[in-house]
Amino acid sequence: MHHTVKVKENVHWIGVNDRKTHLFENLWPLDNGISYNSYLIDDEKVALIDTVNYSSTEEYLDKIRSVIGGDRSVDYLIVNHMEPDHSGAIRALVETYPNVRIVGNVKTFKIVEAYYGYKDNLYEVKNGDELDLGQHKLKFFSTPWVHWPETMMTYDQSEKILFSGDAFGSFGSLDGGIFDDEINFNFYEDEMRRYFSNIVGKYSNMVQKAFKKLGDLDIQVVASTHGPVWRNNPEKVLSLYDRWSKFETETGVVIIFGSMYGNTEKMADYTARKIAERGIKNIRVRDASKTHLSHLINDVWRFKGVILGSAAYNAGMMPPMEHFTKTMEHINPKNHYLGLFGSYSWTGGGVKTLNNFAENIDWEMVADPVDVKGVPDEEAFKGCETLANAMADKLLEK
Ligand code: FEO
Repeated sequence: MHHTVKVKENVHWIGVNDRKTHLFENLWPLDNGISYNSYLIDDEKVALIDTVNYSSTEEYLDKIRSVIGGDRSVDYLIVNHMEPDHSGAIRALVETYPNVRIVGNVKTFKIVEAYYGYKDNLYEVKNGDELDLGQHKLKFFSTPWVHWPETMMTYDQSEKILFSGDAFGSFGSLDGGIFDDEINFNFYEDEMRRYFSNIVGKYSNMVQKAFKKLGDLDIQVVASTHGPVWRNNPEKVLSLYDRWSKFETETGVVIIFGSMYGNTEKMADYTARKIAERGIKNIRVRDASKTHLSHLINDVWRFKGVILGSAAYNAGMMPPMEHFTKTMEHINPKNHYLGLFGSYSWTGGGVKTLNNFAENIDWEMVADPVDVKGVPDEEAFKGCETLANAMADKLLEK
């Protein structure tokens, strides 16, 4: 018996959970697993929307057979996204159903050819094109760079389901509950923001363009390739992705530091305390040497205030802080207040190189950096207090 779930009449979730893989894209921790969602529309023509990862192929093919039986074939495979977490079962699918037509756009087919060498049985669609399956009429929206150049979305006009690819997706496996009304969203919200910020956030402006392209489409179900299917309150996930892609943040601060012998960490704790005394409740203090980059990016996407501290290391900043700041420059989130601090033993370098970062990123510095030689003294803590108050003033500004 294979576990498939009816989404709407003749529309089935045939996704899989992955709790084995440690790192998504060999980069991002999957401590809570992930789901790869694929959908099957069982109409006069049978259509699949995306597949699953390579290692789940057998389970996936069994799920298809459990819905359509052993005698029927698959007519169309709609490829909204070619990244291998969704396209990993394509070769097995084509070998099992040799007449299946792969539906995608010009850019999809370039990647299909690069990965699988297929040049035949391709069905090209452009933005606004439609495909009639019988009862279900599909319409395609070209939404490039959410998250690769070929990405598109498929809208079932009959059931008003948006098959959205990575957009509106989340880390976290589907542990029994598939739909938004079957889960506790408190768990998924953080995993969803982490997915957005780690994977899609760099392309936030393209997410906004996708929203514009979808316009006022009547979306009653959001069916992403990862995480819950939204049938009860799709506006919730649409509005979260809208907010995050506009860099709208919560009132709060993340203090991220790199400390060798505890001096910089003391400054982090003192600054956090002084911010708390101003009534700010959302404060996270993160040791960059211990906290995975994935969670640091997530915190930055969540909070308006970012305070960075580093000990000097070989006349630069601590390597984990360097990794973090380079990543920030690369994904370039906007709309933050920034504060800097650090310590050194000989000639400095941590705060100096953090200052270079501040010049490269378009965030508003709230106070002069605090740079301390050796163990922080009273004057150093006064500097931290000034920084904390300047950050709190900005955050509490009406
Ligand atoms: Fe879920 Fe961009 O792959």
